[in-house]
Amino acid sequence: MPQSSPSRTVTLTDDTTGESWKLERRSGTMGPDVIDVRPLPRLSGLLTFDPGFISTGSCESKITFVDGDQGILLHRGYPIDDLAENSTFLEVAYLLLMGDLPNAEQSTAWTHNITYNTLVHEQLIKFYSGFRRDAHPMAVMCGVVGALSAFYHDSINMQDPAQRAKACYRLIAKMPTLAAMAHKYAHGQPFMYPLNSLNYAANFLQMLFAVPAEPYEVNPILARAMDKILILHADHEQNASTSTVRLASSSGANPFACIAAGIASLGGPAHGGANEAVLKMLTALEVPANIPEAIRRAKDPNDPFRLMGFGHRVYKNYDPRARIMRRICHEVLGTLNLANDPLLQVAVELEQIALSDPYFIEKKLYPNVDFYTGLTLRAMGIPPSMFTVLFAVARTAGWVAHWQEQSSESKPKIGRPRQLYTGPTARSFVPMAQRG
Ligand code: SDX
Repeated sequence: MPQSSPSRTVTLTDDTTGESWKLERRSGTMGPDVIDVRPLPRLSGLLTFDPGFISTGSCESKITFVDGDQGILLHRGYPIDDLAENSTFLEVAYLLLMGDLPNAEQSTAWTHNITYNTLVHEQLIKFYSGFRRDAHPMAVMCGVVGALSAFYHDSINMQDPAQRAKACYRLIAKMPTLAAMAHKYAHGQPFMYPLNSLNYAANFLQMLFAVPAEPYEVNPILARAMDKILILHADHEQNASTSTVRLASSSGANPFACIAAGIASLGGPAHGGANEAVLKMLTALEVPANIPEAIRRAKDPNDPFRLMGFGHRVYKNYDPRARIMRRICHEVLGTLNLANDPLLQVAVELEQIALSDPYFIEKKLYPNVDFYTGLTLRAMGIPPSMFTVLFAVARTAGWVAHWQEQSSESKPKIGRPRQLYTGPTARSFVPMAQRG
């Protein structure tokens, strides 16, 4: 049940008719108050209008809080900086899903649950051979994740809490395996099975880069960097893909189909596809001398070019994840003796120039989580087409947490937005002979 808070009201008045309606103003524990407009159609016959849901709270949630003006990101109250520095991705996934950090016993059980669910059904492996080798890995992931519901019938009943829990840890456990297989398939290499002796991030790197022909040694610095990157991408409140998962789940669709819908939404260049787009942009820029033209184009309202990795619907300050990603980027490139990577020089200069440009300052456009991610993953040997797949692996933790939160509601409602209709009014059918 929604948390109760002292009842305060706001009054909406129609200045033409003088009619007015009282609506409840509700406060959360943090962030802006909301006006509860649910009674508005019944009271007034009016709807609210908010394309892109820029001013709309779609749900009540306890999982993640973002303060865009202050550049704050909390997962169940814990700042992202603390989690990236001190926690692990599996621990953050537990936190998002269960509501608090696990104690030692819970952590052991959770890690075992995930580790022993990393394999996928052998029949599912055959799905990959149906794709072209040059299929985008995100297209492959949409297909194979959606197909999971055809294999795991004992975790698709949303009414059963035990089945819901099983679906959550199956998804978190299997995403790296499926993602690594998409990568291997694209390169014509044999699939690597998960190794239970490795932690989540190291196992992911092993499945991505090992070959059966020889032993593979995971670089611990890269494994830790990968774990931090997964933490930074784990959840971000009601972003487009998470809202997609919630809307799909509201119809009672099975969890695997809902996560596949989230993957589809994440793939867009305005959302999770931006990391791949950033690298394409930096590569096209090639040298710092080309930055002024890019800045000019980004500021030209008639030019669709945007500075990828810049700007955010919510952050009107530096995305706290971008600051951490910049540190990881320098660490990884330093470890791999790539600190002089020309594209890193372009990225650093582009960021400095943009942050001092009046256009970006007045529109509050700062680097977001995607700006340094692509450079880091490229240095780790991950191809650009896999960047958003990695984002999806991480965001599955957030998606399943939101899916679980919504599925556990006592009276779930199907999501069904309304509209402002501006099409033709009712008219009679016109026989072919009378059409113009
Ligand atoms: C993610 O929601 C989330 O939390 C997402 C995410 C998550 O973790 O789930 O944080 C992950 O998706 C990060 C964002 C990645 N996308 C990009 O980096 C793509 C480039 N950014 C833009 O497309 C844009 O900034 C958005 C889509 C991210 C935000 O768009 P908004 O909030 O709808 O803002 P807008 O497009 O209305 O822009 C406001 C103004 C506009 O100018 P005016 O119309 O007011 O004149 O700023 C301009 C825009 O033209 N603008 C940019 C710009 N981003 C916005 N101008 C140049 N370059 C840019 N990158």
